[in-house]
Amino acid sequence: MTIPPTIASTPWGQAPEGPVTRFTLTNASGNTVAILSYGAIVQSVKIDGKEMTLGFDSLEGYLGVNPGYGATIGRYANRIGGAAFTLNGTRYEVDANEGKNQLHGGTEGFNSRVWDAEPFSRDTEAGVTLRLVSQDGDMGYPGELRVRVTYTWSDDNALRIDYAATTDQDTVVNLTNHTYFKLGEAETVLDYILQVDADRFIPVNDEQIPTGEILPVTETPFDFRSPKRVGEDIDADHPQVQAAGGFDHSLAISHYDGSLREVALVMDPHSGNQLRCWTTEPAVQVFTTNFPTGKYKMRGDAPTPRYGGICLETQHFPDSPNHDAFPTTVLKVGETFNSTTIFRFE
Ligand code: BGC
Repeated sequence: MTIPPTIASTPWGQAPEGPVTRFTLTNASGNTVAILSYGAIVQSVKIDGKEMTLGFDSLEGYLGVNPGYGATIGRYANRIGGAAFTLNGTRYEVDANEGKNQLHGGTEGFNSRVWDAEPFSRDTEAGVTLRLVSQDGDMGYPGELRVRVTYTWSDDNALRIDYAATTDQDTVVNLTNHTYFKLGEAETVLDYILQVDADRFIPVNDEQIPTGEILPVTETPFDFRSPKRVGEDIDADHPQVQAAGGFDHSLAISHYDGSLREVALVMDPHSGNQLRCWTTEPAVQVFTTNFPTGKYKMRGDAPTPRYGGICLETQHFPDSPNHDAFPTTVLKVGETFNSTTIFRFE
């Protein structure tokens, strides 16, 4: 007998912009995903009752200082150098929130907005569609952007994320999800085995802004084409990992063609749990939670350990609006931005 998926909606506190709802999606195996209308955040993924993400158990944590746990990041995920770009001959200055650069959409990125949310269910899946209108000039970006993020949780423990956006003036868009995965009890992800189908990476300067090069991963710490322990090269004598204190780099998917493809696999040898990732995006920002232990807190008010989680941020290259050689992030009037990422827990 198949048990239909269920959705529970719970009031989850008050953000400055308004009340927040949490949607708990339960599949036929009893595994759950919880989504917040605040930040379109993935607040929790539980498989066999075990939490698979870093995050908080109340809204206060998300309203306070945190490194974007589970959040939907936009209008432009990752960095924009000098917090400025030129589009159609006009220079746009966007909100600088990391020195003179912009990170993750600025001070009031999409991760700190209250989204309209609508749950749905079908035969073997349950989901939530979240909608946000980002005004013309929001954080400095041109055009009113209408964004839709749909989370679908299916009976095979796959969390599918579909993004769509339209604009009334040409603009730039780069959307991602910033979930920190933690697949078992181990304190860090250093023993996890990672495989990424990426043959090049995007080197960055000392402010983590792309130099403009796209370099082969061959004989660098960024070569995850064959499964490799995350900790193996995390402190390698390579200027890019040394500067970032670990992995915090955009890996360019091999033979990118925009189709939905399996691009990454993470395996925790201690728990035996693994995570498989598919995306239509040209890159994955692999981020190994390089912050010093205790810089941020997480569930239970515990200090987040250095290397305590791993993010697979499927997205375009950082700072693309300033690099003509990178795949374009321009969204024109009349076009629809579409992208899909799937995280399947195995
Ligand atoms: C960035 C990191 C940043 C983290 C938290 C990641 O996407 O690449 O540099 O520290 O997000 O904002």
